[in-house]
Amino acid sequence: PQALARLGTSSINVFVVVVVSCCTEQLSGYCVFVLQKDSAQAVTIAVSSRAIFDLEEEHELFLAEGMGNYTSHQIAHENEPLAEGTALPFIRVSAPKAMVNEKLLENNPEEKQLFDIILVSNNNAQSGLRIINSIKHYGLHITRFCFLNGIDPSKYLQSYNVKLFLSANESAVCSALKRGIPAALVIQQDVQTAAEQLRVVFDGDCVLFSDESENVYREKGLDEVIKYEKDREHIPIGEGPLKAFAMILGNMKKKFPREKDPICTYLLTSRSGRDMGVRAIKTLRDWGLEVDQAFFLDGAPKDPILAQIRPHIFFDDSTHHIRGALASGTPAGYIPPCDKS
Ligand SMILES: *[C@@H]1O[C@H](CO)[C@@H](O)[C@H](O)[C@H]1NC(C)=O
Ligand SMILES: *[C@@H]1O[C@H](CO)[C@@H](O)[C@H](O)[C@H]1NC(C)=O
Repeated sequence: PQALARLGTSSINVFVVVVVSCCTEQLSGYCVFVLQKDSAQAVTIAVSSRAIFDLEEEHELFLAEGMGNYTSHQIAHENEPLAEGTALPFIRVSAPKAMVNEKLLENNPEEKQLFDIILVSNNNAQSGLRIINSIKHYGLHITRFCFLNGIDPSKYLQSYNVKLFLSANESAVCSALKRGIPAALVIQQDVQTAAEQLRVVFDGDCVLFSDESENVYREKGLDEVIKYEKDREHIPIGEGPLKAFAMILGNMKKKFPREKDPICTYLLTSRSGRDMGVRAIKTLRDWGLEVDQAFFLDGAPKDPILAQIRPHIFFDDSTHHIRGALASGTPAGYIPPCDKS
């Protein structure tokens, strides 16, 4: 309770403090959510510790030797900060007190639509101390932690209105996606990103858009999907798993004149512009979603363009394009097929 009181008063916002007992059987799992009063407007991003830090060696130890050894290792190395993980650059610009929120507040001191970050971790409170120390080491203003000790986080993500979930655990990502929460899998990789703006790249089909056209393509081939798209040019494509998050970024962008915009968004799709571009563009227009740049690659590789953009995160559902992103040092968020065939 004392720690909670400190959390609550150290911030300028008025907080509602909610302690959720996540522990059904395991007593060491706990979850402290300090909710902003305006949690509906806050853009809450949940990240796992393996998404923002390089915990690969430690994860191997956990898999091989179990939680006990892992915990002892983390306690022994408590004061050694962890190396950067794949999603760290993205969180670094979107965390509270970081660039995008600062720009939003400069633009409007009353702004409520601000990024907020929750760290959702499979650690227990003991092993979690190294994570907390690493967060401080990188100067991240993440104050909300949830040490779940192996419990599936997805139902908490939903109750707390999480707008994006990034995790290194595929089953946790899938269970979030099944609940309709935008989510992606991040794999530990070396990354290079541009500094001055938050840059986010979205693939089209199965990411911004539903899998409708992709399924036609898979089942019937290219000629049929081109015909299918032509016949439905005036009907928007269904919504994909990351659409809601893209809409939030689109909304934030509308608050700035173009030259001062702290966020840059991109559509990078394998669709051909000539044969399958029209319906995609009309769909974005129907949604009121503007992207800064759209690339229709007609099957060409994405990594040369990603290497130019240097985004903070690139979302795609194709393992082929994700591999290209890894090779070009682009932080990648993979949208797994989950239980779809
Ligand atoms: C794991 O822990 C057990 C007992 O706690 C110990 O005997 C064993 O050597 C440890 N293994 C490693 C790799 O640290
Ligand atoms: C991945 O998440 C699931 C819950 O969604 C959990 O049961 C499982 O233990 C996690 N796996 C690892 C390796 O952390």
